[in-house]
Amino acid sequence: QSSLSTFGAGKVILLGEHSVVYGHPALAGPLSQGVKARGVPSKKCQLSLPSTLSRGQRALLTLAFARAAKLVGEPPVKVSLDPELPLSVGLGSSAALSVACARLLLLAAGKEATPREAARVAWEMEQEFHGTPSGVDHTTSAEERLLLYRRTPNAAAVGRGRTVESPRPLKVVVALAGERSPTKKTVAALRERQARWPERYRRLFTEMGRLASEGAKAVEAGDLEALGDAMNVNQGLLAALGLSSPPLEEMVYRLRGLGALGAKLTGAGGDGGAVVGLFLEPEAAVVQLTRLGVRCFSSQLAGPRAP
Ligand code: PMV
Repeated sequence: QSSLSTFGAGKVILLGEHSVVYGHPALAGPLSQGVKARGVPSKKCQLSLPSTLSRGQRALLTLAFARAAKLVGEPPVKVSLDPELPLSVGLGSSAALSVACARLLLLAAGKEATPREAARVAWEMEQEFHGTPSGVDHTTSAEERLLLYRRTPNAAAVGRGRTVESPRPLKVVVALAGERSPTKKTVAALRERQARWPERYRRLFTEMGRLASEGAKAVEAGDLEALGDAMNVNQGLLAALGLSSPPLEEMVYRLRGLGALGAKLTGAGGDGGAVVGLFLEPEAAVVQLTRLGVRCFSSQLAGPRAP
């Protein structure tokens, strides 16, 4: 058996983070940046960990990997990881890592690494990382397509995504702002508020889900202005839910000032993290932001690509 290499894409949520946890649809697409995994033949199935990780991170990764390995029959392979995404900022790095590992384990076991199989195995790892995630991250990563995703009512199962085709190139700039709080914490704090005032929060979640469905239709109609507007409105609702913060708001306004059709936080939000802006020409914005010392990059999520 020779060495194997696989890839798991990062993701960006254009519409519907958090409300997706409560069963509403979310619009999410894959980034060209992600996590690479490499596998070499070995006596036992194991994960080789970078020395830069903390003790807690190592323990968590080892546990998650063991769950996925068990599901695939523990093929004799030693897996190492090469993340090219900023970790823990809301870009689905844990899902990308899970999908890269899942694909590698499947291939090492002589099985086909279809998107569905990769998602099934990656789901084991995601549950270890996140507790009760909606599944939007690893599904988007495994499918590598723009999806209107909805979790299944049965939290134990992976949800489903409908592919959203874009007749126009769908290009975004992702910029990082401030220090991020862990997803688990942000999701748990929101859960407490919504349990206390369920009717009020339900109304906002429902509206966010509607924006995601309308956004998907706007993409299919090639109406990027309408998609951008839905993103701006969604940002307002995320702020209403207490999920935004000064660093995120500042970056949102910066991206809009640079010509974004729409801009909002993406992922869990909180004290800081990633902001996504929809652009017709993202390159100029990336140059300007980089000049200002902002960590950022552009990516195309869907639509026809330049040859
Ligand atoms: O910030 P991330 O990449 O962990 O994204 C989380 C997305 C949430 O909707 C906030 C949580 C979830 O499980 O979908």
